[in-house]
Amino acid sequence: MIVAIMAPRSGKTSGLAIPAILAAPGPVLLTSNKAANDAYTTTVDARAKVGTVWTLDPQQIAHHPREMWWDILADARDLAGAKRLAGHFVTASVDESSGSDFWSTAASNTLGALFLAAASHRRPITDVLAWLASPADRTPVDLLADAGHHAVAAQLQGTVSGATETRDGIYETARQYASCLLDPEIAAWVTPTPGLPEFEPFDFATSRDTLYLLSKDGGGSASAIIAAAADAVMRAAVIVAERSGGRLDPPALCVLDEAANVCRISDLPDLYSHLGSRGVIPMTILQSYRQGQRCWGDTGMDALWSAATVKVIGSGIDDADFADKLSRQIGEHDVQTTSVSTSDGGKSTSVSMRTERILPPDAIRALPKGKILLFATGLKVAMLDLKPWFKEPSAKEIGPASARATKAITERALAKATTDRDDFGLAT
Ligand SMILES: Nc1ncnc2c1ncn2[C@@H]1O[C@H](COP(=O)(O)OP(=O)(O)OP(=O)(O)O)[C@@H](O)[C@H]1O
Ligand SMILES: [Mg+2]
Repeated sequence: MIVAIMAPRSGKTSGLAIPAILAAPGPVLLTSNKAANDAYTTTVDARAKVGTVWTLDPQQIAHHPREMWWDILADARDLAGAKRLAGHFVTASVDESSGSDFWSTAASNTLGALFLAAASHRRPITDVLAWLASPADRTPVDLLADAGHHAVAAQLQGTVSGATETRDGIYETARQYASCLLDPEIAAWVTPTPGLPEFEPFDFATSRDTLYLLSKDGGGSASAIIAAAADAVMRAAVIVAERSGGRLDPPALCVLDEAANVCRISDLPDLYSHLGSRGVIPMTILQSYRQGQRCWGDTGMDALWSAATVKVIGSGIDDADFADKLSRQIGEHDVQTTSVSTSDGGKSTSVSMRTERILPPDAIRALPKGKILLFATGLKVAMLDLKPWFKEPSAKEIGPASARATKAITERALAKATTDRDDFGLAT
């Protein structure tokens, strides 16, 4: 279970994510906020040779045509699942610090109730948007009661029939959280579409398929969908593993590149402790420890950091406290110092020992690009050289394949721009 902390442009994708994906023997999940010349283009060809490639690209980062759909409500058919899904939409929009104020909590509860109402009757997610737009609509309350969720129905009824200002405030907040679904192009990726193949997390766990989850950075964006899909895949993999003797074989690799930007799963720290023993290998890649704290809070990030059995520190750690903490963990060693003194009677030499840090904090902060510190459970800390994919012999094939995939993205973007221009009747 890997957590990597490395500054921007320090080789996170080329030195960690891509080599791990190319070497993976089983299913692979990748989250990313870049398409061209990044992990997606570099690995898509190689992965297509071993299994089906699924690309969930709701914001058109790779301008990938919609060739699949995933049922975002599939796990929301019980209360816990519906709450978790609502949580993804909240976490994608607000920082951990403001995620627990009154409006957020109330909006999250309402969103959860509406997801549950839709999911338990196999309604599409677009119904949830319609209910959010008109709080007076009794349909979700009736659907919940009908499905036996009487307590949730009563709670939703309470919100709806409460003071108008409060109700409107809660609904407006909930609408903001779910706003990405207002775009029909985005909602289509997570709504049942006859004729297109459905991505099934449970089948994926035992396949050698690849799921690319692409999203832009930034709050309120479709990153909630990305987080929900990654969460669904990891949970399904754990369940499949438990059913089949305890471990997935071959293991599933889940690379959460740019995790704090595009894949903010709020209970990732808890999830981590379940994954390793089940043959699900998570690799969470962050730009700084602080970025993790902003996303999961101090305790959450601490938990994630402690749960990781393999911790990778790269160049550009720009946080004095964290560098000092690492330096202390690396430990001290004895250094022998010799002092020579001269006096009338001649020279005398004395040897003394003192302890000093093996790697002082300033040396950690000055770690050159390409070097990493590896903290693995049960081993002494090691300083290693990253081996980026483009320095491996296989780069001879992978480089051109990545260039082709990048070119295809550009062509799709250009084709789309032309169509848009024609649609608006503009001259070409
Ligand atoms: N195909 C390539 N050939 C040569 N150099 C490359 C190649 N791909 C990336 N690099 C270089 O490797 C370095 C690290 O790039 P990489 O994308 O792995 O960093 P990163 O940490 O993932 O960055 P970001 O924070 O932007 O995601 C960059 O300086 C980049 O210029
Ligand atoms: Mg990167």
